Amino acid sequence: MRIRGYRKGDVEAMYLLDIACFTAPYQFYREMMQEVAEATNAIVVVIDEDDALLGFVIAHMQGQGRNRYAYIVTIDVAPSFRHQGIGTRLLQQAEEQAAASGLHSIGLHVAVDNAAAIAFYQRQGYEQIGTEKNFYREAATDAFVYVKPL
Ligand SMILES: CC(C)(COP(=O)(O)OP(=O)(O)OC[C@H]1O[C@@H](n2cnc3c(N)ncnc32)[C@H](O)[C@@H]1OP(=O)(O)O)[C@@H](O)C(=O)NCCC(=O)NCCS
Repeated sequence: MRIRGYRKGDVEAMYLLDIACFTAPYQFYREMMQEVAEATNAIVVVIDEDDALLGFVIAHMQGQGRNRYAYIVTIDVAPSFRHQGIGTRLLQQAEEQAAASGLHSIGLHVAVDNAAAIAFYQRQGYEQIGTEKNFYREAATDAFVYVKPL
């Protein structure tokens, strides 16, 4: 297993992995996946094995001055490779890169019915600071807002 940064050729595998990870209303379109991965403010961490993509995280550096923070756009681990610490490695690497860029916090939205991800983030020290009604409009689902200081 190898942890590395993003390469242009990763988009298709990231898109397909996202489809395997989420139901339709939460999935990225191919073009959107490329856009968020290649944004100039993106932190992207990938784990692969024998050139097969096992997981990735995309975070964006946002805000101004002392209010700069990282925002997790998505984190996806292939279903058959879960519970092996891959998500933890990805998240920790993204957090380290954000901290190294001088950011003081990292946050995210998570669907209120995504119990696995909520347990995962809580285990990583994230705290729920709010709820956003109908954040996932296409799924008609609310989101919890989670934040962790870096
Ligand atoms: C959330 C996700 C990234 C976790 O990836 P992972 O590689 O399985 O995570 P780890 O193996 O590092 O898990 C670390 C800890 O998180 C918690 N956790 C992870 N999955 C869990 C689950 N299904 N139920 C309860 N706790 C869970 C556990 O405490 C786990 O530790 P343990 O395995 O010792 O019990 C993965 O389940 C996933 O890709 N889900 C689909 C996509 C998604 O929902 N992403 C988040 C969008 S906001």
